[in-house]
Amino acid sequence: MLKKKVLVTGGAGFIGGNFVQYMVDKYPHYDIFNLDLLTYAGDLMKHRDLEQKENYHFVKADIADREVILSLFEKVQFDYVVHFAAESHVDRSITDPGIFVQTNVVGTQVLLEASKQIGISKFVHVSTDEVYGELDFDPTTFFTEDTPIQPNSPYSASKAASDLLVRSYHETYGLPINITRCSNNYGPYHFPEKLIPLTISRVLNDQKVPVYGDGKNIRDWLHVLDHCIAIDLVLHEGVTGEVYNIGGHNEKTNLEVVKTIISTLGKSEDLIEFVKDRLGHDKRYAIDPTKLEKLGWEPTYTFETGIAQTIQWYLDNKEWWEQIINGEYQNYFEKQYSK
Ligand code: NAD
Ligand code: TYD
Repeated sequence: MLKKKVLVTGGAGFIGGNFVQYMVDKYPHYDIFNLDLLTYAGDLMKHRDLEQKENYHFVKADIADREVILSLFEKVQFDYVVHFAAESHVDRSITDPGIFVQTNVVGTQVLLEASKQIGISKFVHVSTDEVYGELDFDPTTFFTEDTPIQPNSPYSASKAASDLLVRSYHETYGLPINITRCSNNYGPYHFPEKLIPLTISRVLNDQKVPVYGDGKNIRDWLHVLDHCIAIDLVLHEGVTGEVYNIGGHNEKTNLEVVKTIISTLGKSEDLIEFVKDRLGHDKRYAIDPTKLEKLGWEPTYTFETGIAQTIQWYLDNKEWWEQIINGEYQNYFEKQYSK
């Protein structure tokens, strides 16, 4: 079996963390390097079981630190890069866009340059369907890989800029890349600032759940493990230079999501609190994943099986999320929701 050195950036966060676990287990003959700055969104508690594994390595670094990244690439000579590291929360990008440009745009360019210099075999850039902007509520419309890029938030604009840089390194220098654009993920280790884990953790504590606007905005939910399987497929089988959309065929209004969680936990819908809408709130996201399905992928979770598994996970892993919501997160929550 071919041994590969795989750099996973942002592997202490939600999706990257699940991907690191998946890769370390699935490919014992690969060396998996998790590079992460450990911002507010990253933690290593989730990888305690990996510490003894010989094929797992952790590097604390900033992807935008050119010198450190270039010398690491020279030293290790990675074969593959799977790039998750980012500032990822739309609400934070509305309050403080600058760090989104620094991490998502500058950081991606630094990784591309280092990848070009050592000549890696594949760079998978994990992006988002939010770069396509928003759809209206017509259920027959979907984002395809040919939908024009029209980001609306500082977060999605920074991701779109990084996508275009990735594309340019392919077109200009022939760097072997893929770009994946997925819908909203959910599942274990989702940071409790995002809708689903925020709702689960607050309902479990009998606290009000803030729903923006009228709660009718639609998201297409993808279980994080289905996303990991898709990225593995793109890494190994994706046609160089191609973009792949990844979506779960699970469109729900925010209110449906919140009500499902409340009823599964046997609590009252009185916990729902309608609050001021998010600025520039995208109406609807929905993905047409036909291109990836042709490559041999399909989601294994429905929303119903996935949300049940996720709620159970949060019940079984209170220690992880309680530690987060009892820390600095409290200040964030007060500031964000007092506006
Ligand atoms: P996350 O916020 O949970 O994790 C991000 C990780 O990146 C954290 O561990 C953080 O410490 C690390 N990081 C941040 N800045 C860094 C820097 N300068 N250098 C090194 N590490 C840094 O994010 P996530 O939800 O796991 O998302 C991962 C990727 O997937 C992102 O690129 C995001 O844009 C994309 N994405 C996420 C979703 C979703 O629903 N969560 C949907 C579509 C696309
Ligand atoms: P979020 O989980 O932040 O993901 P994204 O903005 O990337 O889609 O939000 C999902 C949806 O839930 C989005 O329409 C905004 C809404 N939302 C709320 O209604 N209340 C909240 O407290 C949060 C965080 C999100």
